[in-house]
Amino acid sequence: MNKDQAIALLDSGVGGLTVAKDVINFLPNERIIYFGDLARMPYGPRPHEQVRHYVREITDFLMEQDTKLLIVACNSASASGLSEIRSDYDIPIIDVINPGARAAISATKTKKIGVIGTEGTIKSKAYEKAIKRIDPEVEVLSQPCPLFVLIVENDLIDYPETKTVAREYLLPLKEQGVDTLIMGCTHYPFMENIIQDVMGNDVKLISSAGETARQTKELLKERNLLRQGDNSKHRFFVSAESKKFMQIGQKLLGFKPNAYQVVF
Ligand code: SIN
Repeated sequence: MNKDQAIALLDSGVGGLTVAKDVINFLPNERIIYFGDLARMPYGPRPHEQVRHYVREITDFLMEQDTKLLIVACNSASASGLSEIRSDYDIPIIDVINPGARAAISATKTKKIGVIGTEGTIKSKAYEKAIKRIDPEVEVLSQPCPLFVLIVENDLIDYPETKTVAREYLLPLKEQGVDTLIMGCTHYPFMENIIQDVMGNDVKLISSAGETARQTKELLKERNLLRQGDNSKHRFFVSAESKKFMQIGQKLLGFKPNAYQVVF
C-alpha cells in the first residue's frame, strides 16, 4: 500500500455518493474510486449471502484499480456480515454502521434512538448490536423504509406521494419519542429535508457520512497513508448505464461523475 493509491467506495447505487462527498471534502488531497452496482440495486431485499457475494466481486475489481482502503458505503452491504470478507483482503475495510452508531450515541440525550434502513439492515439488527456494545442502556427502535431507496434512485423525492410514504414509515417512531434518528441507509440523506419535516426539528438526524470520513482520515493517518499531492482525479464506475446516476451525482457533488460501465 502507498499514499498515492486511491480510497475506494462501493454502494448499490447513488447512496454512497453521500459518503463520497464528505470524504472528498474532508480529505481533499485524496483520489477516490467509486462503484455503484446499479444493475443489482437495491441490495436491501436480497439475502445477506448474495449481497456478500456482490461485495466480494466489486472489491476484487476495485483492488485491481490501485486501492489503499475500501469504504463499504452501503448499510445493507455493511450489515450483511463483512468479517469474512475483511480477512480475505490486505487493505483496511471500513463499514458505515459503527460510525453511525457512535455519532448517534453522542447526540442522544434521552437514550432513545430510532434507526431507519432497508429490510436487510433492519433485520440484521446491526445498528442495535453496535449501539448496545457501546451503551447497553440505550433503547433502539427500528423501522424498515424499503421504498426510500427506489424513490432516491428514480429521482422522485419532490413528488407529493413521497411525503405520504415518509409519514407512513416515520410517524410511529416519532410517536414513540426518539430524540435521535439514524438514517441507516446512505441513500436517505438525499431525503433529509422530508425526513426532518416529518420527525420535527427536535429530532436530531444522523448520517454516517461525516463520521465515516473522519474515521477514514484517522486510519490513513495512523498508517502513514495520507496523500500529500493535489490533482485529485476521481473515477466512477457503474454496473448498468444510467443518466440519473450522473444527474443525481452532479447535483450532490457539484461536478458530473462521468461513470464507466463495468459488466461482471
Ligand atoms: C439498497 O441497495 O437497498 C440500499 C443501500 C443501503 O442500504 O445503504
